[in-house]
Amino acid sequence: MSALVPSSSLALFDDRVLADPYLSYGSLRRTGAAVRLEKYGVWAIPRHADVAEILKAPDIFGSEGGIALTVLANEKVLGGTVLAADGARHAKLRRVLSKQLAPRAIKALAERITARAERLVDQYTALGRFNALDLARHMVCDTVMELMGLPDADRDVLLSGAAATFDVFGPHGDRYQQALPLASRMVEMLHEKLTRENVAQESWMGAIFEAVDAGLIDEGDAVPLASAYTAAGIDTTVLGLADCLVQLARHPEQWQILRRDPIRWAVPAFHESLRLEAPIQGFGRLLIKAADVGGVRLDAGEQVWLLYGSAGRDPRQWGDKADAYDIRRPRNHQHLAFGGGPHLCAGIPLAELQVRSILRALAARCTHLTLDGEPVRVLNNLLRGYSAAALTVELSLHTSASGRTPEPRQQGPVL
Ligand code: HEM
Repeated sequence: MSALVPSSSLALFDDRVLADPYLSYGSLRRTGAAVRLEKYGVWAIPRHADVAEILKAPDIFGSEGGIALTVLANEKVLGGTVLAADGARHAKLRRVLSKQLAPRAIKALAERITARAERLVDQYTALGRFNALDLARHMVCDTVMELMGLPDADRDVLLSGAAATFDVFGPHGDRYQQALPLASRMVEMLHEKLTRENVAQESWMGAIFEAVDAGLIDEGDAVPLASAYTAAGIDTTVLGLADCLVQLARHPEQWQILRRDPIRWAVPAFHESLRLEAPIQGFGRLLIKAADVGGVRLDAGEQVWLLYGSAGRDPRQWGDKADAYDIRRPRNHQHLAFGGGPHLCAGIPLAELQVRSILRALAARCTHLTLDGEPVRVLNNLLRGYSAAALTVELSLHTSASGRTPEPRQQGPVL
């Protein structure tokens, strides 16, 4: 390999870097469009424009065998899933739940999700202090479990398993080893619970079995498909929602902008926090043929690591104030935290609906949102966010958006 190849000795998955990766991302962006990470044998892609281009070129940068950093995860965890399929097989798998996740279907859920958000926000804010992660987990798990058709008793297995799945996509190491059994337990639980006898016909799983019965997919595709949607839909939204609340609490002037016009600013506030703190910091792709990335030559069979978290901070795309949280930033929805191209996140309308409902319910009830101590960061090979974030709220004297004055409850889940 030529001495001019941009390379770095960065230990991207070490605790110290995971805790605060932004200086390292800045250094990678200055080093090149593609930077060889010596420690992992992959090419980091740190700039927005290159990540966006690669996502739109699935014939060159494939997902099969390239999403995770280990062969075991690519074959045993991701093999055959929608996330790791290319071409016609990807299109076939993606089609199965496309109707259920399309904007029109999600719009039909709006009343139910809004009512859930208002009920939870009343409950959590009643005592004036709550953990943003508890609220986010409650909201997102209730929604995904109900839609997928899973019983509530399995919530804990699902929560620990879904986060562990993302650790397993990283390199060999302690975090990876600890996560393997948790991720396997979730898949076993899904195999056990997601049977034709157990799931409602109108749930997502019901639709997956219908596709099997219609001969559109194989029986063996059913649970991996469900598992991908479940794992992809939980932690991402939990961390994204909680981070958005933390950002708004850190920036009181932004909270006041949102409060004055929540219908206009709730979704941009969410996108701005996704841009700044992508819940999935990176995913891989495998080169199907040789390619040039910003003047750097990459060979077939090599792997790139798309740094969504770095793309969101790239001053070439977002200007000098790329590190600032500004919900009125023009076109902030063009961030890459939802990926792009054919693998663009399938759950965007659902994630937006859940977060928008919580933000609007909070805006109708709380004049002030304040951080109560520093939030606790979660360290995961791929995910970025908090495991706990205590917030205090001042409740408005006026009635809530639902037209009711919130009733304080005794068992409000405080920290
Ligand atoms: C804030 C919330 C979310 C974030 C940040 C997020 C992020 C992402 C990203 C980055 C990808 C692209 C993967 C790649 O590059 O290969 C993706 C794909 C995907 N997401 Fe999401 N996601 C979120 C919510 C959801 C929800 C709520 C669901 C559904 C329940 C979901 C289901 C999926 C699925 C099925 C894929 C794979 C799509 C494909 O390969 O065609 N996501 N998501």
